[in-house]
Amino acid sequence: MKRVEDYQFIGLLFAALLLFLCNVEANLNYSSIGQLNIGGLFPLHFYDEPKRTCGSLREIGSLRRMEAMVYAINKINQNTSVLNNISLGYEIYDTCSYPAETLKQSLNFIPPYRKASSCECDNPGKNNSLSNEIIGVVGPQRSSSSVQSTILLSLYNIPQVSYLSTSDELSNDERYPYFLRTVPPDRFQVSTVL
Ligand SMILES: *[C@@H]1O[C@H](CO)[C@@H](O)[C@H](O)[C@H]1NC(C)=O
Ligand SMILES: *[C@@H]1O[C@H](CO)[C@@H](O)[C@H](O)[C@H]1NC(C)=O
Ligand SMILES: *[C@@H]1O[C@H](CO)[C@@H](O)[C@H](O)[C@H]1NC(C)=O
Ligand SMILES: *[C@@H]1O[C@H](CO)[C@@H](O)[C@H](O)[C@H]1NC(C)=O
Repeated sequence: MKRVEDYQFIGLLFAALLLFLCNVEANLNYSSIGQLNIGGLFPLHFYDEPKRTCGSLREIGSLRRMEAMVYAINKINQNTSVLNNISLGYEIYDTCSYPAETLKQSLNFIPPYRKASSCECDNPGKNNSLSNEIIGVVGPQRSSSSVQSTILLSLYNIPQVSYLSTSDELSNDERYPYFLRTVPPDRFQVSTVL
């Protein structure tokens, strides 16, 4: 029974991936609306500096990290003992691995810039009446991008949790009070290596 569920899940994931890859123009977003919504910033493309636009697709790993976030949110929504009747949503943007693009996409999470959205009932059975607020952001990947987005998001008290930004600069809690990470800063890795 468990195996069947796993295969179904992999099939769904693959379909989502294909849909996603077909829609590769820049400024893309990937969303499902819930009662509480989490933002995501992932580097899916490289940046083309001369053309000042998003360039070619990056390796599959970035897409995997993004799908892992969506997978975790879906798992939480399916399990009534985690958040009971509250549905979680997500809204994900491509940073194109570039700090300025990250800053631009972070504007999508800022209350005065958010468009009012209607209930699309993406999580059937859950209550989807919206506050249309982003309660926190996952990502971005690079430290230079995290610095840009956390400065902006902290003005609106939106916490940010990066999964790969290891710069010591970001350890400054006074400068970056809303920045958190799931990886240790470089300082610890250096002392381990030494
Ligand atoms: C998200 O993408 C859809 C089409 O894929 C577009 O209609 C919508 O305006 C986009 N939203 C934002 C905030 O960019
Ligand atoms: C639901 O979440 C609880 C923990 O909150 C866990 O013990 C349980 O195994 C989960 N159920 C399913 C079906 O994943
Ligand atoms: C959750 O929703 C179900 C069905 O809508 C309802 O019967 C139940 O009482 C709700 N639980 C809570 C704690 O609100
Ligand atoms: C959904 O939630 C809102 C507030 O979060 C509440 O006012 C409304 O009654 C709920 N609707 C249902 C059908 O539970």
